[in-house]
Order: sequence, then C-alpha cells, then structure tokens
Amino acid sequence: MKIELNSPLDMHLHLREAEMLKLVAPFSAQSFAGAVVMPNLISPVDSLQKIKDYRNAIMTACGKENFEPYMTLFFRSYKRTELAAAKEHIIGVKLYPAGITTQSEKGVKDFDSIQETLHIMEELQIPLLIHGESNGFVMEREREFLTVYQEIATNFPNLHIIMEHITTTAAIEFLEKYENVSATVTLHHLMLTLDDVVGDLLQPHLFCKPIAKTPADLQALRQAVLGGNRKIMFGSDSAPHPRHKKECVGCAAGVFSSPVALPLLVQIFEEEDCLDKLQAFISDNARERYGITPLEKRLTLTDTPWQVPQAYGDVRPFYAEKQLRWSIS
Ligand code: NCD
Ligand code: ZN
Repeated sequence: MKIELNSPLDMHLHLREAEMLKLVAPFSAQSFAGAVVMPNLISPVDSLQKIKDYRNAIMTACGKENFEPYMTLFFRSYKRTELAAAKEHIIGVKLYPAGITTQSEKGVKDFDSIQETLHIMEELQIPLLIHGESNGFVMEREREFLTVYQEIATNFPNLHIIMEHITTTAAIEFLEKYENVSATVTLHHLMLTLDDVVGDLLQPHLFCKPIAKTPADLQALRQAVLGGNRKIMFGSDSAPHPRHKKECVGCAAGVFSSPVALPLLVQIFEEEDCLDKLQAFISDNARERYGITPLEKRLTLTDTPWQVPQAYGDVRPFYAEKQLRWSIS
C-alpha cells in the first residue's frame, strides 16, 4: 500500500544552530516541503540581519533538498520600519512569555507593553505566533493563558493569531470563537498523556512544554484533528536536545520527532480510518490559514516496517527503538 502527500508542511519546528542544525535539518528537509522555524536560539533571532544569516545557515544544512524555511522573528518591541523591512523575509513573529520554555528568557514580561507592536503587526498583516502558557500550575498554564489570547484576538481582529502546540479541550473550544485565530498541534500531543511521561518510570525524552495533559484532553485533540478541523495545522514542535541535557538533573523540555513525524501521522490517521483528512492537516490548512503556496514536493509513504534507531548523533528521537509501520520512500 502507498500514501501520497502533497507538499507536507511542519508549521512549528526548532532547527537550532551549528552542529545540531547540521544534524537535524536534513530530517525535516527530506520529509517536508517547508517548515516554520522557531527563533529561540541562544541569541534570539530578533533582527532582519539575524533572519538572513539564520536562513542561509539552514539552506546550507539542508543541502540539495527542495525545502523552504519560513522564518520567524523573536517577539520584542519593534519599530514600524523594522517590521516593514522584515515583512517579506518572515512568515510571522513568535511571542514567548519570559522564561516559560527553552531559551525564552528574553520573552515578554509585561503584556501591557506589547500593544504598539501588535498594532503595527496588524496593520502590516504579519501573523503573531504565541507560546500560550502562564506561569501558574503546570497543568493549568494553557487554560490560564486563554484570557491573554482573548484580549489580543478581540483588540486586534485583523491580526492572524496562531495558538502554538495546543494541548487542551479548552483551547479547542476557544479556537472556534475567533475567526482570526488558528492553532498548531504536535504529533506527540496526539499520542501522549501525562501518564506516559511520569506515570511509570520517568521518561525525560517525552518531557516537553506544554506538558502532555489528561486523557480527556487527548481525546479532544484527536477528535478535532482527525475530524478535520480546518483551523488546525500540523506543527511538530520537534525540539532536539543532546542526551546530556535530557538525561540529567534538570531535564530540558523538548521532543525530537522530525524523523518519525510523517510515518507516525500516517499510522494514526490510518488506525482511526481518517486518511482522507491527513492532507488538510499536513498542508492544506496551513496554505489556507497563512495564505502561502508551498514548494511543489510529493512524498510517498509505503507500508514497509522499520525500526527507529536509539539515537541520531547525540539525540534520542521520539519512538526510539520502536517499530513503525510506514516508511518514506
Ligand atoms: C522547545 C525548545 O526546546 O526549544 N521545547 C519544548 O518543550 N517544546 C521550546 C518550546 O516550543 O516550548
Ligand atoms: Zn516549540
């Protein structure tokens, strides 16, 4: 059996830099026609020059693959001239609350101070991508942040807002209320609950932000995605960390899923008898919501089993050492 996908897109991806970039970029470039690249480098990508330099480094790391990195600026207060100049080089601006996740220390501390920049973004039609978590109790962070989403969505009705990597029933319900709001969902959040992370032996390689939630939340996410919700796009949030940063005191958040993303998505959609909904989730919804036309690229998957290696370089992938039913051919 074989499945064909037309220009798959990963709308939320961490490619890192230097040696890690060289290691992980080829996996995304082989599987996807393009990806939205997150700007949370050690020195955040927060100027046009940094966008250009980072894009060049990514293109080099991808080699000959036909792959479009959709660049994002790290949110700070920007002048109109800065954003106007950056507009044609970026797909959006990514906002992190300060300190909420990996390399987000320079994120937003005071949400009252961001109005002017949002106003400029709305006028220039630059999308706002948000890591939507409060600093409250870890299971409630996403739900608590909905008040911020609501305020921005109401005050800036012409601003396209993307709720990144949503994990809760409440977020799915919220999404329906505002035409200008879209969302991404990861692969691992379609498969895990908190039980998989901490219910038995602690699984550091499944620890990520936002953390996996309850069985009810998992069901709501799966229902929305497998049911074909057109406002939800695939975003892997593949976020590699070297093993010594995961298997240690103070484990870094992030799941490295790009090598297994397409095979596992096909498996999930096949098991639930929803393969007809996969093309929209993996590409068409993103084209529609962002108004982009991806590079032409056809991916074929066949039902040829393979075993995921225990590591790629120094990074342990999602589903390591497990058997997958589908391969990219
Ligand atoms: C991401 C990372 O490591 O950069 N980690 C994660 O757990 N998802 C950052 C992020 O998207 O929160
Ligand atoms: Zn992320």
